[in-house]
Amino acid sequence: MTKRVAIVLAAGVSRRMNTQMAKVLHEVCGRPMLAYVLDACREAGVDKIYVVVGYGIERVQEGFAGAEDVVWVQQDEQRGTAHAVLCCKEHLKDFEGETLVLCGDGPLIRAKTLKTLIEKHKAGQSAVTLATAILDDPTGYGRIIRDAYGNIQGIVEETDCTSEQRGICEVNPSYYLFNNRILFEAVEKVKPDNVKKEYYLTDALSVIIATGHKVVAITAVRPEEAMGVNSRVELAEANKIMQRRIQRELMSNGVTIVDPENTWIDIRAEIGQDTVIEPFTYIHGVVKIGRGCRVGPFAYLRDGTVLEDDVVLGVFTEVKNSTLGKSVRARHHSYIGDAAVGQNVNIGAGSITANFDGEKVNRTTIGDNCYIGSGAVLIAPLEIQDGSHIGAGKVVSQEDINRFRKGRRAQ
Ligand code: UD1
Ligand code: CA
Repeated sequence: MTKRVAIVLAAGVSRRMNTQMAKVLHEVCGRPMLAYVLDACREAGVDKIYVVVGYGIERVQEGFAGAEDVVWVQQDEQRGTAHAVLCCKEHLKDFEGETLVLCGDGPLIRAKTLKTLIEKHKAGQSAVTLATAILDDPTGYGRIIRDAYGNIQGIVEETDCTSEQRGICEVNPSYYLFNNRILFEAVEKVKPDNVKKEYYLTDALSVIIATGHKVVAITAVRPEEAMGVNSRVELAEANKIMQRRIQRELMSNGVTIVDPENTWIDIRAEIGQDTVIEPFTYIHGVVKIGRGCRVGPFAYLRDGTVLEDDVVLGVFTEVKNSTLGKSVRARHHSYIGDAAVGQNVNIGAGSITANFDGEKVNRTTIGDNCYIGSGAVLIAPLEIQDGSHIGAGKVVSQEDINRFRKGRRAQ
């Protein structure tokens, strides 16, 4: 079987993003951009991923600690995409196989497209296969230059395009599969002969074509996955596209999203069949929602929330790091943080867990079949037994509960 690795370019300084952080750490629907690219590589089948990092390297490595298939390669000075590839030479100079080269700022990538690229590469027996996209507005991307027969002649960056070339709508989304040996021979020969005086990976293709090797460009990238995120505006657009994908997937799994435009769901969220998500609901982090639940309008679910089946959460209800048992109801204005709530519990309007004592966060446990009246403040750490009834407006601490229990025993 052909051996295959990936190089992911993620060292750029990203002036356009105007950030102190490595660009690839900026999040799209709850995950850093780079995570999507790595996952797509994995799903398409690679043995190792060489990630070229430079600017903000420590935080990138920290964010992906534990990714055992990743080899970090440092590019100290960002001299262009061909130079970034060349930084992997020490690791890959003797590798006989295929090398996928992708950009870390392309979070909308789909593994399916990479699989098509891999298949076409095999079928075409070429030195390089690249996947291109046709965009209504090609602004900012490298343009694909083909001859009269449709053969690719090269890629020209926008800053180097003639006005005629600027009109070409077929662009380079930076999805390449190279014969590894030919890749490294070519990147060594690239010269910074362009407006920006950078070493362009796109020029490696011209080198390869000039050497007489076969280069094939297939139009296989959908416009919506072609995007490279270079600015905050594009980051917001990528979020939008990804959000649509997430919601479509959930809907096909049997989740009703009443108003997709006004709902935001993290990619890490799982939602069960026949659950209804009402408008203006915001779900952020690892959140698990069971079947038949009703969430929102205006609900805010945060990291670590687990809703078992048939839970109802209504307006302005916030839940964080808590498990709510089957058929729990919290219909209006509640905050439930760091709590374990049993089954069939009613949490009245405006009731909250006071989980932070100024120094640390404390847990609240509420047993099954409890009734918490409106406006109750449950001061954590607190344990409320099964079947308890807390009256409206009560401020409850563990001390109160212990005193109450002691009193009952004395009777
Ligand atoms: C690049 C392509 C362009 C393509 C576009 C697709 C080149 C020369 N141009 O342009 O044809 O249409 O992507 O999104 O390849 N990077 C490094 N080290 C460097 C320079 C860049 O690691 O020295 C990384 C960046 O972090 C980024 C990726 O390479 O993730 C692409 O660089 P970027 O500057 O964003 O290139 P584009 O101008 O978008
Ligand atoms: Ca880019």
